[in-house]
Amino acid sequence: MTNAALGGSFRQINRLNRTGMHADLEELVSLTKGLFVTFEGGEGAGKSTQMRLLADSLSARGYDVLTTREPGGSIGAEAVRHVLLSGAAEPFGVRMEAILFAAARSDHVEEVIRPALEQGRIVLCDRFMDSSRVYQGVTGNLEPGFVETLERVAVNGVIPDRTIIFDLPAEVGLERARRRSSENPDRFEKEQLETHEKRREAFLDIAEADPERCRVVDATHPPEAIAAEVLRLVEALLPGNGEPQSSAVEAAS
Ligand SMILES: Nc1ncnc2c1ncn2[C@@H]1O[C@H](COP(=O)(O)OP(=O)(O)OP(=O)(O)O)[C@@H](O)[C@H]1O
Ligand SMILES: [Mg+2]
Repeated sequence: MTNAALGGSFRQINRLNRTGMHADLEELVSLTKGLFVTFEGGEGAGKSTQMRLLADSLSARGYDVLTTREPGGSIGAEAVRHVLLSGAAEPFGVRMEAILFAAARSDHVEEVIRPALEQGRIVLCDRFMDSSRVYQGVTGNLEPGFVETLERVAVNGVIPDRTIIFDLPAEVGLERARRRSSENPDRFEKEQLETHEKRREAFLDIAEADPERCRVVDATHPPEAIAAEVLRLVEALLPGNGEPQSSAVEAAS
């Protein structure tokens, strides 16, 4: 059986194991011991900042952390990233863009994310499938069935254990993103404020529809306060419930 056949998150599979899962699935469980956390939200919400801070905290506790991003994160997907963010694919329509995002995601999942999770690593990813739901689905006006099909093919069973949604008024996020970068705005940054507000609502709708996986963080707070909250939101899912990994190993020996 493949991970995709189970269709659940890595954490859910581990939970099943602890509550007495069928022995035939032992091998599968041993392949699914990592933790997958995604960072979602609008432009300038602090996703990249908080991902770095969480990676530092977890690494300091002895966890093996991989940070990655979308679009991109693998050699194939990084090649597609430029096409998407430069706007080169825009004239071909939102369906074409959505398929390119899915192609990049599929490569990223199979080449980078799944192998890291199979090794038991903690994978932190800056944007993932929810960004496609919001940018191509909601504000791209693609039919939900089309977006769902692409998502299923691209993630192929690799669903985040936890998704942190950084919530911020669109004008604050855009102002932050502008201040940070002297370059020209990318394909998505240059859109109307109204579009960005719609995306904010769409991210909140996702969180409401999937409360087990998603947590919303008020991204207007100072970075250090947000970092503490993000750590708390991930801690409960860590192997050993957030105990430093080295002492967890000592305790077991
Ligand atoms: N909590 C915060 N309060 C104030 N400024 C912040 C906060 N978090 C991040 N910033 C600043 O806002 C800018 C955008 O942050 P960051 O790059 O982390 O956002 P992002 O969500 O990754 O944006 P993008 O979607 O454009 O990649 C940066 O200059 C960063 O230093
Ligand atoms: Mg970023």
